[in-house]
Amino acid sequence: EKKTIGILVGSLRKESYNKKIAHSLANLFPENFTTEFIDIDNLEWYNQDLDDENRPTENWTAFRNKLKNIDAFIFVTPEYNRSVPAALKNALDVGSRPYGSSVWDGKPAFVVSSSTGAISGFGANHHLRQSLVFLNMPTMQQPEAYIAYSNKLYDENGVLVNQGTQDFFQLLVNSFVDWMGKF
Ligand code: FNR
Repeated sequence: EKKTIGILVGSLRKESYNKKIAHSLANLFPENFTTEFIDIDNLEWYNQDLDDENRPTENWTAFRNKLKNIDAFIFVTPEYNRSVPAALKNALDVGSRPYGSSVWDGKPAFVVSSSTGAISGFGANHHLRQSLVFLNMPTMQQPEAYIAYSNKLYDENGVLVNQGTQDFFQLLVNSFVDWMGKF
């Protein structure tokens, strides 16, 4: 049957390079996969009181319900101050609660980081992986995906400039498809 890949992007910016990368990756999946972009920008800050008092926000509930039907996740994120952007961390936190009903539990994941600089979001990539350990999300180890100089990847028509980048993106998707098939 068709598997659904949920894609979460750590940048809320309209012209986000991470969004562009995420769309490139989504387009490379084989036909027996569906990709679904998961919005995180409407999620209120996580506040445990709302769950303890059984009054989660509508946006939290919609988000949690949507994620229950996703088979595996790809996170495509920039690095903010050497770590995970707050909006993405908030989405992880919202999905992880109430205690015992985390929507992430056991779902395979893959982390892609990118940056306009050379270090390619390494800090964000690995801070995110730290949370995924606790969330019990088996995360693909190799190949790793650190995308440098994200502002140079696409031409003005939104087309990837280098065939090498295209080939690397296809390798990432193929590897993830093979690897997640084991779960
Ligand atoms: C950044 N940027 C950045 N880059 C980096 O390599 N390491 C970092 O720690 C940071 N920190 C940082 C903090 C904040 C608040 C912003 C707004 C930006 C630069 C970042 O790589 C660049 O803005 C990217 O273009 C962000 O990704 P999107 O929005 O294009 O997807």
